Amino acid sequence: MLDLRNITTERLGDAGLDHDALLEERAARLEAARDAVLARWRAGGDPYLGWMDLPRGDVLADVEALAGRLRGRYDDLVVLGIGGSSLGGLTVVTALQHPYHNLMADRPGMRVHFVDNVDGDVITGLLEVLDPRRTVVNVISKSGTTTETMAAYLSCKAWLRAHVGDAYREQIVATTDPEKGVLRPLAEREGYATLPVPPSVGGRFSVLSAVGLLPAALGGVDAGELLRGARDAQAHFELPARQNEILQGALVQDEFGRRGRNITVFMPYSTRLRFLSDWFAQLWAESLGKNRQRSGGSERVGTTPVKAVGTTDQHSQVQLYREGPQDKILTFVKVDRADRGALIPNAEPDEPEMNYLGEKPYQALMNAELAATAHALVQAGQPNVTITIPEISAYHLGYVLQFLMLQTAVMGELLDINAFDQPGVELGKVLTYALMGRGGFDEQREELRRAGVEV
Ligand code: PA5
Repeated sequence: MLDLRNITTERLGDAGLDHDALLEERAARLEAARDAVLARWRAGGDPYLGWMDLPRGDVLADVEALAGRLRGRYDDLVVLGIGGSSLGGLTVVTALQHPYHNLMADRPGMRVHFVDNVDGDVITGLLEVLDPRRTVVNVISKSGTTTETMAAYLSCKAWLRAHVGDAYREQIVATTDPEKGVLRPLAEREGYATLPVPPSVGGRFSVLSAVGLLPAALGGVDAGELLRGARDAQAHFELPARQNEILQGALVQDEFGRRGRNITVFMPYSTRLRFLSDWFAQLWAESLGKNRQRSGGSERVGTTPVKAVGTTDQHSQVQLYREGPQDKILTFVKVDRADRGALIPNAEPDEPEMNYLGEKPYQALMNAELAATAHALVQAGQPNVTITIPEISAYHLGYVLQFLMLQTAVMGELLDINAFDQPGVELGKVLTYALMGRGGFDEQREELRRAGVEV
């Protein structure tokens, strides 16, 4: 699945790596990093590694039962969440539903709408076009306090109550921490159905929890298949470094990062996988951008993810990747087979500028563009790797998601940081509370006033 030929010295000269020698030298270190993650997970009780339990699917029966109650009664699902509470579901639903699912007359699942910003025009615009009697709202917030999500929740609750009266209680599902936070007691008071975000699962690692599985199941995706793929990735993680693509992927990212390639571009060649780039960017940035080492000391580490989608961004970014600074490594995602196997018709047989395309599969063109771009980058000394999946299915997407989470966990070990917290995000949240007049934030309000910061 992982093609590393375009990082080698044979192809890149001095810009490349002698991958075999490097792997030989670093195999023990990579396996030690992997084993450290596995040991903490297996010991149980780790505050961060609950996401490694998720492929087991303990929550699947509850998700399916709830989805079964809601299916048929409602046409639209509105998912309220941000960052890790939104991007996983968005990735899965966009990849696995029919590309124009929402326009289909006979849909195999609900229409799913993700609200992940505080844009009032978008939120009120969505509510203007939905039927409140046929809409269910899934508010997702582990902490239950995130401003953006709470604002959207307030809009949706008010809208439902205004149109359906007390029945709004049956039309809101809360996915949140099983015990802590504001949303849990609120949901219980209101009588909302609830699903858990396990305390040891951070947002960006939560796609295979109820956070991602409920939107997937309601949208008509086979959630069990996602989990089966993730289980197989996790089994692969146990292999020796020489056979382990997760460890080898981490090695390549780590080594190029240390050589000054501090930008990592993630570029699936698929419109359906376009949000995998957004999901990956959050996973990578929030997990690995840290300035505190576990063994003590403070060094700023992390490489900057750039999201892209092929072929579209060939026409906007590849110029920079070929001729700009040699500070990047690219990851392409290639899909072998498209679902429909669509052919480009030979509608202009006498036009030589077009007839070479006639009767060729679209996927052949997509993959030719990928191969051509990858080679053009090699010629310019820019390393790139390709993850190939046979098709876009729940199984293969589950595999890739877990593969990338495990790779990120190993990167955290190699960088000697905690990949699972996000202290750098907190201050902005707290200062927003202060600016918006939330109680208990007087000190921060005063500090902002002194600094001349106001809304
Ligand atoms: O990955 C993360 O931890 C964040 O992106 C959170 O998911 C995001 O801030 C939303 O947090 P919450 O689920 O508490 O509303």
